Parts: sequence; structure tokens; C-alpha cells
Amino acid sequence: MSTISVIGAGYVGLTTSACLAHLGHEVICVDIDQEKIRQLKQGKIPIHEAGLPELVQTGISNRCLQFVVGAKDAVASSEFVFLCLPTPQEEDGRADVDALLSVVNQIREVVSPGTIIVNKSTVPVGTNTTLATAIRRDDVSVVSNPEFLREGAAVTDFLQPDRIVIGANDSKAGDRVAQIYESIDAPIVHVDPASAETIKYATNSFLATKVSFVNALAAVCEAVGADIDAVTAGLGSDTRIGPRFLQPGPGWGGSCFPKDMHALVRIATDAGYEFDLLRAVISANEQQFERIATKAERLLEGDLAGQNIALLGLTFKAHTDDLRNSPAIEVARRLAKKGAILRAYDPMVNSTSDIPSEIEIATTIENAVNQADLAVVLTEWPEFASADWPVLADLMKSPRLVDARNLLDRDSMIELGFRYDDLGRT
Ligand SMILES: NC(=O)c1ccc[n+]([C@@H]2O[C@H](COP(=O)([O-])OP(=O)(O)OC[C@H]3O[C@@H](n4cnc5c(N)ncnc54)[C@H](O)[C@@H]3O)[C@@H](O)[C@H]2O)c1
Repeated sequence: MSTISVIGAGYVGLTTSACLAHLGHEVICVDIDQEKIRQLKQGKIPIHEAGLPELVQTGISNRCLQFVVGAKDAVASSEFVFLCLPTPQEEDGRADVDALLSVVNQIREVVSPGTIIVNKSTVPVGTNTTLATAIRRDDVSVVSNPEFLREGAAVTDFLQPDRIVIGANDSKAGDRVAQIYESIDAPIVHVDPASAETIKYATNSFLATKVSFVNALAAVCEAVGADIDAVTAGLGSDTRIGPRFLQPGPGWGGSCFPKDMHALVRIATDAGYEFDLLRAVISANEQQFERIATKAERLLEGDLAGQNIALLGLTFKAHTDDLRNSPAIEVARRLAKKGAILRAYDPMVNSTSDIPSEIEIATTIENAVNQADLAVVLTEWPEFASADWPVLADLMKSPRLVDARNLLDRDSMIELGFRYDDLGRT
């Protein structure tokens, strides 16, 4: 059992805190947001993540998990300080590490000798060294331990990861961090800090590239009369490629992929390599948003002005309430620009959510599609797949649907009378 402070109570920090408490450690979770901490103390979770409320509640009841405002008091009694702080994208693509530096400066004089600072934030290569310099303490180590959890499956991913990456110059510090995870059955990849930082960017950039590849392949399937489901089944059964992340969609988004892609391009440029491959993927993703809007336009015979469009889904993927850089919002913006009137339903979004003013929020799928000229499935929520489509077809002014997630059965929708389009299916 170790004593651990986790700084930052967002998607990564809160999941890390609750899971480390679940593993038997004594955890203090810290944030600067007083209201968030007040709610967390009462067991109220500000994000939608399966299994997280239960772990937080158990941690609070067992007194393994505490929530406090401000890092200084928490870290004094901790053997490990985990940094789970935001690293937003700057204008030139770089990830901004000011929050990390600010916390390191705050805690420099209060951490106990032998403390290990463990960085989980996604940071430019070399940040581990920057933090080690900033702490100005020979008796404190800084270790890189990037996080790979997916929103929507954060708890499972944290407790059953494919691997745990630990980047340390001091192998004893690296081994101590590995011990924290000893009850988790996963390979530990011990590397130097720069490699650990690069592995995180490489992972997200590779996954985004895979998604853009399959989106482009779906466009080719449409052009040549092949079927994307058949193609990806054949492609994905090659063990060198694998079946995951081969689902076409409206483009990749979320709080990580876009900023991490831009950050890796920037890191490479700063180091003297032009990562044109990733630049092409970023631009292919922008084209994908436009491609979905064009599909809507085509089903409506070219003119979106004044047409009522129902958006089904706004979050960047299902099983999360996160709207940051959502492809659904990107597509919505393009539809609004062409004059469409937008009404959206998403099970995790209400009228107080942070969405563009052009989008009106409906509280049910029926309200969203009522009298609509067209509907677009933008997020793969299971309730859209199981919806009563004959009833929804009757509610629409004309049953037209762009299925930007290939969620519905194409033949059944056409049989129901829908003018239907999806991505690369025949
Ligand atoms: N969200 C993901 O799926 C995910 C996955 C892997 C890695 N990451 C990376 O992890 C890092 C954190 O991401 P996130 O999604 O958890 O961010 P987030 O925005 O959800 O949470 C960050 C939290 O840090 C708090 N905070 C900001 N400054 C602070 C300070 N000075 N002291 C204490 N708390 C402070 C904020 O109030 C917020 O609660 C980022 O670098 C991100 O790229 C995110």
C-alpha cells in the first residue's frame, strides 16, 4: 500500500484516483475547482464513466479516497504525486505544460525526500526533464507514466490495460512506480522518459491514422462498388492489422486525438522532421466532416437552406458525455453554415451543455425527428440502433437518413421507405 496524491480530478485524474484506491492505496485527489471537489466529497461524479461512481463511493466509505482543494497540503504526506493535468493545444500545435509547471513550483518545497512525481498527462517529449529541472530537488524523482484509457471504458482500461509504460532515468524510481500496479495483470514496459512520452503520441496518432484510413477506404468502396464491412472483415482478420479501429465514421475527435496529432507534428517539426503523413491524416479528417455534410446535401437534392435536420448524437463517441472536439459538432457546424435548421438528441446532452447556439436540443429521439426533412446518425449510441424506426419514419416530414456510423441495417431502412446513405456499404 502506498500513499498517493493525484493532482487533477478530470477524466484521467478521477479515474486514476478511484482505481488506485480500489487497488488498496491511500489516495488524496486534488483539484483547483472548488465546486468539483465539493461534489466529489459527496460522491457526486461530474463525468459519465461506467463503474466510476461505485469505485468513488467505495473509496470514500473505506477512507482510502479523499478529495481536497489545493496541492500543497496533500503532497506533504505522499510517497507519490501523480500529475493528471490538462495539456491543451497552443496555437502552433504545441501542448501547453503550464499547469504542470505551476503545480511543480507549488509543491517543490513541501514534498518529502524520496517522493516520486509520476506524470500521466500527455506532454511534449522532453517534459520529464523539464519537470525534473523545475523541481530543483536531488531527493525527488520524476517518472513518466502515460495514460492510455479510453473515455467510456476508463475504469476497465485502467484496471485491465494492454500494457503499463514507465519511463524513468532512475531504474529504482521506475521499479517503485511499477510496484503501485503490482496487482494488475499487464506487461510493464520500462523505457527512458523521452520514449515513454513518444509512445503516448505514437499510439494516438497511429489510431487516428487507422480511422482515417478506413474512412478513406469506405469512400473507395462507394466508388468501386465494394462493401466496407466485407473489406474490413477481411482486412482486420490479418493479425498484423487487427479488427479494432476499422469502423468508418464521421471522423475522429475528442479531447485527445486532435490535440495529440497536432502536437506530434509540432514536436517532429521542432526536431527537424516534417511529419507530412500526419498532416495528410489531419486534413483527411477535416474532409470527412465535409463528406458527411455533402451526403446530407445530396439526399436533400442539393439545398440545405431552411431544411430541418435531426442530429442523432452529439458526443464524440458513445458511452461518454464528452463534447470536446466532437465530430458530430463539426458536421453540425457545416450543416448550419449551409442554412440547415438543427435539432439534436443525445442521451448525455441537455440544454445546459456547451454546444453551438445553432443547435436546438430535443429531449427525446421522437422530438428530434418530428417533422424533420432528414436525420443524421452521428454518435453510435445503442439506443439509436434499437429505436422504433417505423414510428420515427412516420414522424418525419420525409424519411431520409445519413447513417454516419453505419449503425443501422441498410436493407431494413430502405425497406421502411428511407432514402438512406451510409459509409461504403452496398
Ligand atoms: N481524457 C482522456 O481520455 C485522456 C486519456 C489519456 C491521457 N489524457 C491526458 O491526460 C491529461 C488530463 O486529461 P483529462 O481529460 O483528465 O483533463 P480534464 O480537463 O478532464 O481534467 C483536468 C483537471 O485538472 C484540473 N486542474 C487544472 N489545473 C489544475 C491545478 N493547477 N491544480 C489542480 N488541478 C488542476 C482541472 O480543474 C480539471 O479537473 C491531458 O494531458 C490529456 O491529454 C487524457
